[in-house]
Amino acid sequence: MERTKVAVIGCGGISRAHLNGHLACPGSEVIYCVDIIESRAREKAEVMGCKWHTDYLAILDEVDAVDICTPPHVHAEMTVEAARRGKHVLTEKIMARTLPEARWMIDECEKADVVFMVAFVLRYRPEFELFQQTCAEGKLGQIRQAYIQTQLNMAKPAEWRQNPYDFPMGAFLSHGCHYVDQLQWCVGPIAEAMNMSHALTLNELIPGGDDTNCAIFRHQNGAVSCYVESWAIPFRTSGIRYEVYGTEGSLQLTYRSDGKRLVTLFNSDGENDLFEFDPRKEDHMDAFGGAKDMQGQIKHFISCIQNRDLPLTHGREGIKPMQAVLAAEAAEREGRTLRINDFIERPQNTAEWSEPDFRAWVKETYGYSPE
Ligand SMILES: NC(=O)c1ccc[n+]([C@@H]2O[C@H](COP(=O)([O-])OP(=O)(O)OC[C@H]3O[C@@H](n4cnc5c(N)ncnc54)[C@H](O)[C@@H]3O)[C@@H](O)[C@H]2O)c1
Repeated sequence: MERTKVAVIGCGGISRAHLNGHLACPGSEVIYCVDIIESRAREKAEVMGCKWHTDYLAILDEVDAVDICTPPHVHAEMTVEAARRGKHVLTEKIMARTLPEARWMIDECEKADVVFMVAFVLRYRPEFELFQQTCAEGKLGQIRQAYIQTQLNMAKPAEWRQNPYDFPMGAFLSHGCHYVDQLQWCVGPIAEAMNMSHALTLNELIPGGDDTNCAIFRHQNGAVSCYVESWAIPFRTSGIRYEVYGTEGSLQLTYRSDGKRLVTLFNSDGENDLFEFDPRKEDHMDAFGGAKDMQGQIKHFISCIQNRDLPLTHGREGIKPMQAVLAAEAAEREGRTLRINDFIERPQNTAEWSEPDFRAWVKETYGYSPE
């Protein structure tokens, strides 16, 4: 099999998991690790046994695909530059800072006819796949309600999270997008949104948005759901709690504080564990001693390139959580509930992407101008 030549761009925190995913994928060959910080590019390249560079534009012609692990303010520029040279793109979430910027990425990738995938990694983890499959197979009957809670403690945010031009958002858009994506995937498309949030703990450090929020959604099928999260919980009781309630059964996924992950089905047969991940069991871990969290995602990306398939989380799918979160945030500002379809038709959301307009909006909203 011909291997797909990949450049991983951005060699910071999340890149390690991506690189592990590429190492475990027989169809992938990382030939470049790229970072503007030379030591980071070199260090990752040494582990991968590949070349390194500090300028992604200089190496684009040598690769088939890019895996973008940089902060959100450069996702769009990198995606468009790669697509225009016919390169396939996997980009980390959140795909962009605004809806026009995200649509620019989608349009350019469609024009160039390249594979474009947004890294909603949870969709490719076995426990989340089983969770969705159980919902989709009708094992819960009609789904009426869902609940997700996530807890994190963002004690030292990266520098790019600390200015609202690079990061005009907070926990809900940046992190909550994963879970809003899950709600849409398992329960169905979201029709209406509302939200309450604050930034009482991290406002100084992350001025672009909230650190804590409670959002409520109504789905097109009538079900209601709730997403409760925080980046400011120093004493966590668990990692993720995800529950879906239907007329024939309830389903629970928990990421427990001891590292175990469990999927449990509750129905007329009682309580049955469908899945267990235990970090103490060697065969549950990957070759590097981590959970196999990124392997499915990288395998899917490479397979879509080689078979010319549409990724599960292609651009038009990847923008949906942004639409729902941004609608919920607008609803909070306006003190009401908003319909997603009305929100995305607003002129500022349908406009063409314009960096000067975005810059002006950041200045007006946050009183901040980048150098
Ligand atoms: N899926 C997940 O669970 C998850 C978890 C963490 C982060 N992320 C996402 O991954 C992205 C990166 O986050 P991180 O925590 O790894 O950040 P990070 O700051 O640790 O790493 C980002 C790296 O990108 C490099 N970089 C910045 N601009 C660049 C450029 N123009 N060219 C080349 N390199 C450049 C930086 O030098 C840095 O090394 C973000 O979009 C974030 O939201 C996803």
